[in-house]
Amino acid sequence: MVYKTNQEHSMAANSPEKLIIFDTTLRDGEQSPGASMTKDEKIRIAKQLERMKVDVIEAGFAAASPGDFEAIKAIAGIIKDSTVCSLSRANDKDIARAAEALQPAERKRIHTFLATSPLHMEKKLRMTPDQVFEQAKLAVRYARKFTDDVEFSPEDGSRSDMDFLCRVLEAVIAEGATTINFADTVGYGVPELYGHMLKTLRERIPNSDKAIWSVHCHNDLGMAVANSLAGVMIGGARQVECTINGLGERAGNTALEEIVMAVRTRRDYFNLDIGIDTTQIVPASKLVSQITGFAVQPNKSVVGANAFAHASGIHQDGVLKARDTYEIMRAEDVGWSANKIVLGKLSGRNAFKQRLEELGIALESETEVNAAFARFKELADRKSEIFDEDIIALVSDEQQSHDKEFYRFVSLSQHSETGEKPSAKVVFSIDDKESSCEGEGNGPVDAIVNAIETKVASGAELLLFSVNAITTGTQSQGEVTMRLSKAGRIVNGVGADLDIVVASAKAYLSALNKLHSKSEKLNPQL
Ligand code: KIV
Ligand code: ZN
Repeated sequence: MVYKTNQEHSMAANSPEKLIIFDTTLRDGEQSPGASMTKDEKIRIAKQLERMKVDVIEAGFAAASPGDFEAIKAIAGIIKDSTVCSLSRANDKDIARAAEALQPAERKRIHTFLATSPLHMEKKLRMTPDQVFEQAKLAVRYARKFTDDVEFSPEDGSRSDMDFLCRVLEAVIAEGATTINFADTVGYGVPELYGHMLKTLRERIPNSDKAIWSVHCHNDLGMAVANSLAGVMIGGARQVECTINGLGERAGNTALEEIVMAVRTRRDYFNLDIGIDTTQIVPASKLVSQITGFAVQPNKSVVGANAFAHASGIHQDGVLKARDTYEIMRAEDVGWSANKIVLGKLSGRNAFKQRLEELGIALESETEVNAAFARFKELADRKSEIFDEDIIALVSDEQQSHDKEFYRFVSLSQHSETGEKPSAKVVFSIDDKESSCEGEGNGPVDAIVNAIETKVASGAELLLFSVNAITTGTQSQGEVTMRLSKAGRIVNGVGADLDIVVASAKAYLSALNKLHSKSEKLNPQL
């Protein structure tokens, strides 16, 4: 895909310009404490982003860890329709590592960044403005040796001095940066001011029309989406950096679903083209939430469970008479499907396969389809009504078990009685060797965790335990998330089952697997 610079766009008379959607769920999203993902999980999300027709996928930060490097490389080899990008600090070693990871990509972008605010330069980088100016130029010059798609971000841009920003950005554009990403790193921006800063930069920098301008906002004051849209409308940005569900460090990043639906629903105002297949938004949201264990709040715009629910009689009556009385978007346009029974015990393999296709779930091989179908049959034996959400959860579980699982759940029995201390016996395998353990606790979940710990002795601290019903009714499967912390690392484990105690054991073991396998990462903000 060839992106037009702002200059080329303005030559294309009044036709709507394209707004580039740059997704950073796998990089900035993953920086959220507890949101770390395995390589396979990242690949699943990247495929969903491609299905959704995201223009650029920031797949990670190659120099951060061997795990990040491998995930970017794998994604670069798989994704064909979106540009794959790696973040990199502004030094040769990081840039070469990013280029190496991106080598298999059909379209690749190196995104290099360096802080430009007085505070970051003096206190964090301990560099003078002149040193920062030189290093930024050298970084872009070096990145251009590997690809002609190079993005530069002045980190903490919104708290930087305008004269200095103009000097640095003019220089990096002259070195060949094709995208300039004006970062509101700490979410300090206010829409009007942020938009005008961007406008001023574009007006003052003589070669500004040689680059596409981008916005990257954090949500510390709850204004990330508003700031991004002000950057687009006032500042003339034609790329928005965002994440699914607004996942990201601290209060998160700009939410992709909100940007896309705002620009699409209010096309009369924004007059911009967006290439996203919006029907893939809810599946993407559910996938990211399921993998990271970060629940989506019910009243969250677009992807929250209540986003299209009308409780008041007046609203229900209005919607029944004419939908647009109270609905500005259609639930099906963003991928909500009614909670309907889709399959049952008697459904065959073909019906199951067809439903997977309709849900946009692409399993790699017939062996994978067979394994998922076997799980489906097992579930259908225990649960009479199978919903789309059940299928998504079981496929997810199936794909999760592809990562080599050091700890693997086998079975459990658990006893609770009023007035007695709950006890549990858990059977699970450790590196393929089956092992059985027993424990007691204050509740059934505490008992299974204590039982597992008698064998594993992980020493990890449980930060979060949450149970979520996948569908409605008491027949629903429970999806459990357990967040563990150990030696500064935070991981999430997710498990689903009709029995929430079993789901808890699976979630705990899944978190232990992540603690077992992950290598340390660098924080890109350092
Ligand atoms: O918030 C930020 O400044 C970033 C940069 C690396 C673009 O994420
Ligand atoms: Zn960021």
